[in-house]
Amino acid sequence: METNRDVEATWEYHEGTKHSFQSVHSSQHLLDFENQPLPFKIYPGLEPIPLPRELEPSGVPALEALAASAAEPEGERLPDLKLLARLLHYSAGITKRIRHPHGEMLFRAASCTGALYHIDLYLVCADLPDLEAGVYHFGAHDFALRQLRRGDFRGELVRATADESAVSLAPAILICSSTFWRNSWKYQARAYRHCFWDSGTILANLLAVTTARRLPARVVCGFVDDWVNRLLGLEPQREVALALVPLGHNSPVGQAPKVGPLALETTPLSRSEVDYPAIQAIHEASSLAEGAQVAAWRGAASVAPLAPPAGRPFPLRPLNDREAPHDSIEEVISRRGSSRRFARQPISLEQLSTALSSIGGIAADFRQSGGRLLNDAYIIVNAVEGLPPGSYVYHPDESALELLREGEFRDEAGDLGLEQALPADASANVFFLTDLAPVLERFGNRGYRVAQLEAAINGGRLYLAAYALGLGATGLTFYDDAVTDFFSPHAEGKSAMFLVALGHPARRRPG
Ligand SMILES: Cc1cc2nc3c(=O)[nH]c(=O)nc-3n(C[C@H](O)[C@H](O)[C@H](O)COP(=O)(O)O)c2cc1C
Repeated sequence: METNRDVEATWEYHEGTKHSFQSVHSSQHLLDFENQPLPFKIYPGLEPIPLPRELEPSGVPALEALAASAAEPEGERLPDLKLLARLLHYSAGITKRIRHPHGEMLFRAASCTGALYHIDLYLVCADLPDLEAGVYHFGAHDFALRQLRRGDFRGELVRATADESAVSLAPAILICSSTFWRNSWKYQARAYRHCFWDSGTILANLLAVTTARRLPARVVCGFVDDWVNRLLGLEPQREVALALVPLGHNSPVGQAPKVGPLALETTPLSRSEVDYPAIQAIHEASSLAEGAQVAAWRGAASVAPLAPPAGRPFPLRPLNDREAPHDSIEEVISRRGSSRRFARQPISLEQLSTALSSIGGIAADFRQSGGRLLNDAYIIVNAVEGLPPGSYVYHPDESALELLREGEFRDEAGDLGLEQALPADASANVFFLTDLAPVLERFGNRGYRVAQLEAAINGGRLYLAAYALGLGATGLTFYDDAVTDFFSPHAEGKSAMFLVALGHPARRRPG
């Protein structure tokens, strides 16, 4: 049997990395700060190609860009260095520096578990107006590209994606990768989930910015893993490609030169590294080995529609264009930062409705345009004007929330979010849950990757929508089974993928 089809591997990984009260409180894992990995991949031997730092905003309102980012923009644009610089800055660049007694902490455009920044971006492109064809790495630390290979290697990605239609015409393709150790240092084997969480928040930003710039972009998750990793010179035991994003549409791709080995020096991340075999096992089990497997993998899953609301429905009331704030997508990304504390104040139903309407489709090779999402949004409402506090499920087609259970659930929300104050104090907590069985049935183990990624992209959009609305947000981790139990019987059998808390930011508690 094809490895990807043996979905026991996913259940084993998923069960084995669930958080529970018991697993968290009995964990012996200590953070070894002496051995903390660098949050950057650095190639000391390669010349930096500085990216232009003029990053004028597009002027496109964030909420408009988010809403439109569900569909692939139409256009023929050929990106140049200036446009690439904007895309890279607003998806994975450094947007904030905070000084502390031991130095400086650098924060990025997209949120990331533990601020460990294990996701890197690579670029594979044809000759662009001001950049020669090649394979490049984006260095966030000095905002520069470095050329790993010279020449037009896009044909290798066309081959690896079995002629995926957007890849076959794209003048430039971005690739997200994760170096596991940079995240597993803290999160151990659960870091594999974070590969998709943390590339999802980057992709939410990227898709909003490409939409604002009318640059076609699509998320491609079906590819022969080994071929993409080899092109980028990754050691797949440590670092792997996760998703491709072809950009632009007007540049037919020819055959790539031969892809020889790359042996480029990179700065050691830490004194030593620890392998988590569970990560390598699930990654290998969800890998595709040849073009025919990729071609068969691509497509949409048929996930049963949500049953029509049986509980009391509450129609949503998103702000209209006139009422909605107009801050540009770039301004919103620049001021985004995870709320460290929420005030226990209500948000309005209009704010919650507008934030929820940013959840939508993704132009991707694992979906059909307009098709059903793999994840459903379940919500704990703590304080939203016009809604009784309680638990809800979101019906996007009806633009309504269905009340599942009325009640004050701040304590429960805090417990589900690993006993943190943030979800208890938030105005609303949005949990993305998926029914993994049909997803794995259709996509094999690789379905786990796309279910996590889809949830994270929509979680990233919620983050941005909250900041566009003048609110705060934070991603949160959770006790898996307790989340499903809390929303059951409606959520029976589903698995929690991602959690975002929304509310009014408050100053941190003193001390
Ligand atoms: C998926 C996800 C889960 C997160 N979980 C938590 C959490 O459980 N507790 C917390 O305080 N912050 C959490 N965060 C917030 C990160 O710590 C934060 O994104 C990171 O420190 C970078 O800071 P910034 O978002 O302000 O740029 C999470 C972020 C993401 C994306």
